[in-house]
Amino acid sequence: MGLFQALGIALIARAFSAQAAVSTTGFTVSLEGIDYFLPPKPAASIDGCEEIKAYFEDGPFVPITVVKNGTVDVASYSKDDVWQPAFLEAIFVQSGASINSSYTVLSGTASGAINPGPYFINAAGQVYEAWRLFSDGQGAFTESVTANGDGSYSVLPAGTVGQNIAIAVPSRLYYTKTAEMPLAGLRIGIKDIYDIKGLRTSNGNRAWYGLYPEATNTATPVQNLIDAGGVIVGKMLTSQFANGETATADWVDYHEAFNPRGDGYQDTSSSSSGAGAATASYPWLDVSLGSDTGGSVRGPSQVQGLFGNRPSHGLVSLDHTMPLSPVLDTPGLLARDPIVWMKAAKAMYGANVTFTSSYPKSIQTLGWPTSPSNIASQLLINFLGNVTECLQANVSAYNVSASFGNDNPTIAPLATLMNVTYAILITKQQIELVREPFYADYAAKHDGRRPFVNPVPLARWGWGANQSNTVDEAIRNKTTFMEWANSTFLAPSPETCSESLVMYVGSTARANPRNVYLRDVGLPFGFSNSRISVMAEVPDVVVPIGEAPYNSTITGHVEYLPVTANLMAAKGCDGMLFGLVQELHKKGIVKTALTGRSGVTGGEILLRRKAGDFE
Ligand SMILES: *[C@@H]1O[C@H](CO)[C@@H](O)[C@H](O)[C@H]1NC(C)=O
Ligand SMILES: *[C@@H]1O[C@H](CO)[C@@H](O)[C@H](O)[C@H]1NC(C)=O
Ligand SMILES: *[C@@H]1O[C@H](CO)[C@@H](O)[C@H](O)[C@H]1NC(C)=O
Ligand SMILES: *[C@@H]1O[C@H](CO)[C@@H](O)[C@H](O)[C@H]1NC(C)=O
Ligand SMILES: *[C@@H]1O[C@H](CO)[C@@H](O)[C@H](O)[C@H]1NC(C)=O
Ligand SMILES: *[C@@H]1O[C@H](CO)[C@@H](O)[C@H](O)[C@H]1NC(C)=O
Ligand SMILES: *[C@@H]1O[C@H](CO)[C@@H](O)[C@H](O)[C@H]1NC(C)=O
Ligand SMILES: *[C@@H]1O[C@H](CO)[C@@H](O)[C@H](O)[C@H]1NC(C)=O
Ligand SMILES: *[C@@H]1O[C@H](CO)[C@@H](O)[C@H](O)[C@H]1NC(C)=O
Ligand SMILES: *[C@@H]1O[C@H](CO)[C@@H](O)[C@H](O)[C@H]1NC(C)=O
Ligand SMILES: *[C@@H]1O[C@H](CO)[C@@H](O)[C@H](O)[C@H]1NC(C)=O
Repeated sequence: MGLFQALGIALIARAFSAQAAVSTTGFTVSLEGIDYFLPPKPAASIDGCEEIKAYFEDGPFVPITVVKNGTVDVASYSKDDVWQPAFLEAIFVQSGASINSSYTVLSGTASGAINPGPYFINAAGQVYEAWRLFSDGQGAFTESVTANGDGSYSVLPAGTVGQNIAIAVPSRLYYTKTAEMPLAGLRIGIKDIYDIKGLRTSNGNRAWYGLYPEATNTATPVQNLIDAGGVIVGKMLTSQFANGETATADWVDYHEAFNPRGDGYQDTSSSSSGAGAATASYPWLDVSLGSDTGGSVRGPSQVQGLFGNRPSHGLVSLDHTMPLSPVLDTPGLLARDPIVWMKAAKAMYGANVTFTSSYPKSIQTLGWPTSPSNIASQLLINFLGNVTECLQANVSAYNVSASFGNDNPTIAPLATLMNVTYAILITKQQIELVREPFYADYAAKHDGRRPFVNPVPLARWGWGANQSNTVDEAIRNKTTFMEWANSTFLAPSPETCSESLVMYVGSTARANPRNVYLRDVGLPFGFSNSRISVMAEVPDVVVPIGEAPYNSTITGHVEYLPVTANLMAAKGCDGMLFGLVQELHKKGIVKTALTGRSGVTGGEILLRRKAGDFE
């Protein structure tokens, strides 16, 4: 027997003796031109199904609607973005009374309870959930995610047409919100610096993603959202190691996400770039988890017209989360709807936040406009007037650096005290906690080589490594400022949590197009209003208040960008600020933001492929 014959017989023997390991990773189907993902595990099975036997001649699945009660409530199903009328091919009634006989009703028995909503059933009677596939046309996600049902997650093994990855979202009809599950069915995106069990984390760096295995734990803020019923749909783009980066030259490893507002080519701000872009673009996404060390939630919220918060420092543990500077790092949420935003915050911060409804009677403004010289100023003046009226408060302008100087004649001016504090903290702490172990692990695996790192983190780490100032010195300076703030304009109050509401200007529709080549990489020196909450550990929230025109260098046309205000209060008064924003929303002073080209009037993103893209 020749060698080839022997080999052939061996191969045939193997094929007959061992069963090849085939398993499904789920299915993708198209129904009336809409793509769906069916998870690999059926939700249940229904025996019999004689009524639709003939339908399987046309294909492997039949779309059905599971109905909980005797009524087929088409009007309420139609509000769901996953369900469509084609799911009425047949219905299955879980419980309840009579049914409109014009539908094909399955008479079989289910193997267990099935939540109401759209499903696909196969000829074996297996019933699969319908997850709609949306294209991430704005490039905001790094990975799409599905739950495995055992606390771990996997990368979605499915795609849809278009140049970007597909995100799968389950029907909202499957979920019922309860006191224990206040976020049931809420779709949430997670910045890719938080570990999720079963998934790799990139921290915005390709070498990191390739070097380390799948996470074996889920970061506490993410777990808190999951435990409250949140549906994690994907990991989102972050600038590298959560350092501040600007398109175009800085984002080497990954491309910055696309800001949908105005001409569609404005910077998203960073580092929670994907979180802001996706929340402002996709109606099917409810809330995103970002992080704010020096402005990484507030920046993207300001330039994309969203509600976004930097919480008081230390509200929830940041284990299994990449650090930039643990003494400054915070997890914050971005949302269009302030009610959804508050509910997610309640679930994520738990008992560490107390929601209150007594508000300060004093407002201190920092650099607020006084003359309506343009539309943005007019919006800010009106907003301040409305908040003042709502709170029956007194307003005074406060000058932080001048007051600090007056109150502390023996200490260096604030501009000197705080000039390098932030830069020292983020570089020295990240060098120790991220760069050193990363370089060592990479070198061990790759024969002493160094991994690629983007220009911004590289320059920052390089600067930090050369400085003689210590982390302790930076913390002392920070504490000096924090204690002074806590005794003056950010003082606590037993009645209203914070003696004052402190307001500063967020964004004023200033264009920052992403196609501009920048100067050399700079370091984050200096002090400004956005650093106050960072150093004083106080809550700082962004509130969209309107939009203003600018001349776009991209479209050669007048376009509109968001105008936003920031509200701060004493440390621990997060719940008071969330309560105040709800109050302003109830009174119509702030409005739910819309997705699309404008946060105020909606409208299609200029780069859409076809009407209804992303919807
Ligand atoms: C069932 O439907 C009926 C008629 O629409 C309604 O009155 C009843 O409240 C529903 N029951 C449940 C449990 O949803
Ligand atoms: C029964 O369903 C059909 C659609 O299939 C609808 O046109 C009709 O109004 C329904 N009748 C009742 C009584 O609900
Ligand atoms: C409250 O904050 C502390 C400090 O970060 C943390 O250890 C604790 O787990 C938090 N509690 C909740 C309910 O999140
Ligand atoms: C507001 O100002 C008025 C007039 O200066 C003063 O009488 C009142 O006490 C102030 N209210 C508060 C809450 O500071
Ligand atoms: C409140 O805002 C509206 C515009 O939305 C403005 O017309 C009005 O003057 C403002 N009220 C106050 C007291 O400033
Ligand atoms: C605050 O006071 C400083 C002087 O200490 C001055 O240079 C600065 O312009 C003032 N800022 C505002 C907003 O008035
Ligand atoms: C802040 O620090 C940088 C770097 O040391 C220095 O170049 C700059 O002059 C400083 N600015 C102030 C206001 O001290
Ligand atoms: C701390 O403050 C002093 C001024 O009191 C300043 O010279 C020094 O650069 C600051 N150091 C850091 C790390 O913030
Ligand atoms: C660090 O200091 C060394 C020696 O003074 C210098 O050659 C190098 O350029 C510095 N690196 C950075 C990133 O500033
Ligand atoms: C602020 O000062 C109060 C005393 O007025 C103190 O009880 C509180 O712990 C301080 N908070 C911070 C964040 O320093
Ligand atoms: C746009 O440019 C035109 C012409 O220079 C100018 O008149 C107009 O004020 C500009 N509009 C805005 C919103 O900046």
